[in-house]
Amino acid sequence: MVIKSTNTVWHPAIVTRSDREALHEHKSVILWFTGLSGAGKSTLAHAVEDYLHKTGISTFVLDGDNVRRGLCGDLGFSDGDRVENIRRVGELAKLMIEAGIITLTAFISPFKSDRNTARKLVPRGDFLEIYCQCPIETCEQRDVKGLYKKARAGEIPFFTGIDSPYEAPEQPELIVNTHEQTLNESVKTVVNLLIQQGIINNNIC
Ligand code: ADX
Repeated sequence: MVIKSTNTVWHPAIVTRSDREALHEHKSVILWFTGLSGAGKSTLAHAVEDYLHKTGISTFVLDGDNVRRGLCGDLGFSDGDRVENIRRVGELAKLMIEAGIITLTAFISPFKSDRNTARKLVPRGDFLEIYCQCPIETCEQRDVKGLYKKARAGEIPFFTGIDSPYEAPEQPELIVNTHEQTLNESVKTVVNLLIQQGIINNNIC
């Protein structure tokens, strides 16, 4: 991205990320869920949030379908628009971890390079990539939003997995096989990752 906002001067905050983390009594992190439409990213992210919130942890879910109604409402599904979508979400998630919040992002984010760009925005260890792995046949069978049917009928161009690519992560921090596990099992797997990484204490389980 070319920075056009010249002549700006960074204003340091008085209240820092560590101050906020200390107030919340846990660290902040980005949990970056990626996968095909219908793979269960949003369902899992919201279920993890629900679990964490009930134990007093500060969380927020940035969900593709929701963010595309506001912040990214000017973007479609061309490759270029998806790149910009993920760039904005990466920057937003970076702000949210500065706010001391466990930030869960649920976007297809089909391109490896964009996910890696988002990863590099934050210090090492602050970006945990979670691949919601699910065969496209299963996503298509579920077709919760009826979009695969429309895409197959040629009504939605550039649909991920049909006529737009999805590049699976090579080394995600976690793979969740959403078609083989119950939602509760998947939630536990993600919560365990947070404990292993020292983001939250293991006394919450
Ligand atoms: S991304 O590719 O830019 O990361 P994002 O996660 O924000 O996509 O939005 C995906 C959601 O938009 C899907 O879950 C689906 O509901 C909807 N959608 C509408 N058109 C498309 C399309 N052409 N490809 C994929 N998803 C689409």
